[in-house]
Amino acid sequence: EPQVYKEQYRPQYHFSPPKMWMNDPNGLVYHEGIYHLFYQYYPDDIVWGPMHWGHAVSKDMVHWEHKPIALYPDEHGLIFSGSAVVDRNNTSGFAKNGETPLVAIFTYHSMEGEKEGRTDFQTQGIAYSLDNGDTWTKYEGNPVIGNEGIKDFRDPKVFWHESTKRWILALVAGDHAKFYASENLREWEYLSDFGKNQGAHGGVWECPDLFKLPVEGTDEEKWVLIISINPGAPNGGSGTQYFVGDFDGEKFTSDQKEAKWLDYGTDNYAGVTYNNVPNGDRIFIGWMSNWDYARDTPTQVWRSAMTLPRKLSLVKMGEEYALKNFPLEQVDGLTAEMMAKDVRVPSGGKREVVLDGLNQSRIKLRTACKDFSITFKNHLDEALVLSMDSNTNMFRLDRTNSGQVEFQQEFGNKHHQMPLDCSKAGELELSIFLDRSSVEVFINEGLWVMTDQIFPTAPYTILIISNGQSGQDILLEGIETMQTIW
Ligand code: FRU
Repeated sequence: EPQVYKEQYRPQYHFSPPKMWMNDPNGLVYHEGIYHLFYQYYPDDIVWGPMHWGHAVSKDMVHWEHKPIALYPDEHGLIFSGSAVVDRNNTSGFAKNGETPLVAIFTYHSMEGEKEGRTDFQTQGIAYSLDNGDTWTKYEGNPVIGNEGIKDFRDPKVFWHESTKRWILALVAGDHAKFYASENLREWEYLSDFGKNQGAHGGVWECPDLFKLPVEGTDEEKWVLIISINPGAPNGGSGTQYFVGDFDGEKFTSDQKEAKWLDYGTDNYAGVTYNNVPNGDRIFIGWMSNWDYARDTPTQVWRSAMTLPRKLSLVKMGEEYALKNFPLEQVDGLTAEMMAKDVRVPSGGKREVVLDGLNQSRIKLRTACKDFSITFKNHLDEALVLSMDSNTNMFRLDRTNSGQVEFQQEFGNKHHQMPLDCSKAGELELSIFLDRSSVEVFINEGLWVMTDQIFPTAPYTILIISNGQSGQDILLEGIETMQTIW
């Protein structure tokens, strides 16, 4: 039975839960033809509450099928964020009849412990499935990593480390990451810490992820550590920073002192990547919200959605490494008819183009890295404005008058900015994904990215492109309607 979602603001080509509250993506893993998406879920309300792992599956990471709740709270606590692995060699011993276990590694959050004012209320536990994620059994030896009094101690990400032939686990401990190793996923040995004096520290560190990537166009490989942080993001509240460095099986090291940000929008948080993707691609999904106002967004049946699935890649620009994130090729398969093909906007000129009024499209355009603006507008004069200021080298996303913004003070109080150095950028190629309650802007294949929620009272019906004095046409390559995924 295909689902039909008709509620106002219901994403049409982004994952959202059928009903109730969702936050972080969890347990992203591929196994036997299926991409699993687990997520922080509270089945009884549209605000955060005692956490479960919700579950959905997909063959392509674009079309999703909802599954029953996978993990429920138990005597050790609520089920916070974590990851999942395919235990190909049954190192855990959970399989008794030749099955391949899926093992989930998550944080237990004890409400009692927290209420009693203790600091050791977060521990790490595991559960396994022998039927590719349909049913789960908690390990009777839980927790597998206890807590010696660290208040924020959570979000384990586990992966198989081929060169030392063992499992590596990264978790966060307030203001830094910790690494552990295991032969069997049950017994963990502490290895090292990273990050107390590096990167951004405006808030608590959450949801780490560690993986290796080739540097495009070279023989070099580097390790990337992703760390979510809340608050302390460049445009306020929750955001995702990353470090590029090396991991020798014991320690992660990086020369990087300053924070680098994966996304300059306000709504891409707690993102992590898939384990076990067959072609080795590194695929990232984030939670499209921000703890500043996540509980207040104007939806009634469900709350929040995931970002589009994005492929990560690493490039070197001069001496600096940069992590790119860009929607998977499968997302191209969702585009239907193309409107407004090859519209040119001359230097100093302005063009208005009619939109289909669905808020469900991808817009592609090319422009010089000079001053320009792109405005989405409805008949109520609500407008979402993207613009480039080449004097200050800032790209802006202004949702202050984009629709409903009053529900929470932080949501629409200022425009959002992203440093974009035109001397390094060359020509800009923009790919803008508009859904019922979000906009994702990708520049130069994900070198610069902004993801924001928006709640226009009515869909935008007109696109206005304005070209400053660039001396060059802006080329609107086209506007494509995106297909509904359900
Ligand atoms: C991130 C986070 C995690 C935690 C989970 C609880 O958004 O705070 O650190 O495990 O949400 O739902």
